[in-house]
Amino acid sequence: MTLAEKIGQMNQLNFDQINKDLEEKIKKGEIGSLLNVTNAEEVNQLQQVALQQSRLGIPLIIGRDVIHGLHTIFPIPLGQAASFDDELVKNAAHIAAVESREKGINWTFAPMLDISRDARWGRIAESLGEDPYLAGRLGAAMVRGFQGNKLSDATSIAACLKHFAGYGAAEGGRDYNSTNIPIHLLRNVYLEPFRKSVEAGAATVMTSFNDNDGIPASGNGFLLKQVLRKEWNFDGFVVSDWASMSEMISHGFAADRKEVASLSANAGLDMEMVSQTYIQNLEQLVKEGKVPVQVIDELVKNILRIKIRMGLFENPFAPTGPGKTYSQAHLNAAREAAVKSAVLLKNNNQLLPLDVRKKIAVIGPMADAPHDQMGTWVFDGQKEYTVTPLKALQTEYKHINYVYEQALAFSRDKNKANFEKAVNTAKQADVVVVFLGEESILSGEAHSLSNINLIGVQSDLLAALKATNKPVVLVTMAGRPLTIERDLPNADAVLYNFHPGTMGGPAIWDLLFGKANPSGKLPVTFVREVGQIPMYYNHNNTGRPGPKNPMKLDDIPLEAKQSSLGNSSFYLDSGRDPLFPFGYGLSYSSFEYKDLKLSATKIKPGEKMKVSATLTNTGKYEGTEIAQLYVRDMVGSIARPVKELKGYQKISLKPGETKLVTFELSSDDLAFYGLDLVKKAENGMFNVWVGGSSDSGLKGSFSLEQ
Ligand code: NOJ
Repeated sequence: MTLAEKIGQMNQLNFDQINKDLEEKIKKGEIGSLLNVTNAEEVNQLQQVALQQSRLGIPLIIGRDVIHGLHTIFPIPLGQAASFDDELVKNAAHIAAVESREKGINWTFAPMLDISRDARWGRIAESLGEDPYLAGRLGAAMVRGFQGNKLSDATSIAACLKHFAGYGAAEGGRDYNSTNIPIHLLRNVYLEPFRKSVEAGAATVMTSFNDNDGIPASGNGFLLKQVLRKEWNFDGFVVSDWASMSEMISHGFAADRKEVASLSANAGLDMEMVSQTYIQNLEQLVKEGKVPVQVIDELVKNILRIKIRMGLFENPFAPTGPGKTYSQAHLNAAREAAVKSAVLLKNNNQLLPLDVRKKIAVIGPMADAPHDQMGTWVFDGQKEYTVTPLKALQTEYKHINYVYEQALAFSRDKNKANFEKAVNTAKQADVVVVFLGEESILSGEAHSLSNINLIGVQSDLLAALKATNKPVVLVTMAGRPLTIERDLPNADAVLYNFHPGTMGGPAIWDLLFGKANPSGKLPVTFVREVGQIPMYYNHNNTGRPGPKNPMKLDDIPLEAKQSSLGNSSFYLDSGRDPLFPFGYGLSYSSFEYKDLKLSATKIKPGEKMKVSATLTNTGKYEGTEIAQLYVRDMVGSIARPVKELKGYQKISLKPGETKLVTFELSSDDLAFYGLDLVKKAENGMFNVWVGGSSDSGLKGSFSLEQ
């Protein structure tokens, strides 16, 4: 390869249309990858040019943001995370891969593994939540789903782990903002899901937009060379985010585009997304000795290795003939995913499941919002295929007696003119089901919010409906955990759906009518007030942890003397605790954990133990519980979190049935980067919990000793 041909492979452009200029560039070997070509014929035409008319005949890799489905849209990743279901997540990714390959797309920019502990950040929707263990397991499952058994299989696409690294910790939840993640937190939390997903065989990684502690990710050799290549033995390739390289000029990290190219190449960044500083400067930089040609050789080899592994040299073409896009099997899988991603937050007096003979008032802007129910990052899903809750009533749930009033045209609508109609509609029914939430455009990239209450006048609508004295079920469809504390008194039951995708409508009725039993658990903490952020279950203890019942704002006497009230860590106005903790979620049944048993009370490094408990379905319905295992390392060389998730299992139980739940815990599971920054388990005492949420569970303890 000539130097120019090598640099060409490192250049990714955004596709607009096929024209002479584009074909010319491909012929000259100036493009290694295109993103956003989605038409099979166009992909085939461009691959033909690359294979037959360029000197070396190197195929293109065609990328696209296939985040939660291409056409058949699954729940947003945050919703999928609520399923705690590795198989389900893997299958959703596989279906996305099948539909992508039909269009000639062979590379997706997913999964997004940014730990998100701030619901203001719009991209929390794309994340797998706040916990490194959950995000790591589900991220690895997504990688396996996208990439199949072999990258070269006809239904596989290459995955891309993003955004490396730390992007989710954007200060103040404002997108693209700087992050300040210290090294222990970076290693133990933010990098962990990436490590697991690299281990699962991910083919590519994307650098992030943010600077962490002053260093933009696209110029961060520590992350790319030391961590990714040296420590994790990653042998795929790294792509920048969209112009994240040239943006290092705005960051004030590079003086000009030439310096950008030099910094990124020397940091180990293989492919540049759209900003073209490589193609314009690398040859000159090599001549000047600022980027050694050996560096270029390594970078281009990383790219070609993946193209070879993907089988692109043999067949880069999209198949012709009928495909499986929107097939019944795909739609069924999307429906099952939506069922398992919903979280029941409240169910007073067992209002749910609803009796099918009841007359139902269906109200609200999200009851029939085919576009918005799909959620963020949907370019290809067509709303004509979306089954909204209203549409599901008109088709498969035809026997239900209902009345409908939209009340608000969309989530931000502030026009209350139809509230009276909504109230009258509610009065005609036995029970009111209100569909509120967020339009899809209110979350996702560049869509951060500083106020995360139900937007517009939706809370007022809910209050007006509650005032009818009819039982009210609130069903949300949102891209983030909203601050709904003020709404809870106005809903007797709350079914929380993160945007549920194409089949959200029937899935929701399946749950509301008890055809399915809710089983989702929260992958993120729900705060009471936005001012509590960041609040997450796996925090360190303070020296003065807050009490269970902290002093309240109104209990402070007038002209109270200066004091450090209560002497501990809480908010006077919103206390110590969140509204709903990580791992929380109700079922129509109830589950009881008993008889915690540890197979050992002492283990040595390298040893394993079993932690088990019995789980009984004490309710009336068959149901599925997500049993969770948490650990606390009581004393460490650095302070350790008050709880850390170390395992979960989904257990289905008939009414009255009991099963033994057994988790295996090894000393490796206790390892972390301590004071010396070497990953290992430290000797000492550990607490362990098995339960149905991060704030409950049976507690035991054991020690790790030499
Ligand atoms: C920018 C986003 O940050 C990234 O996630 C996405 O994959 C690229 N644009 C490509 O669309």
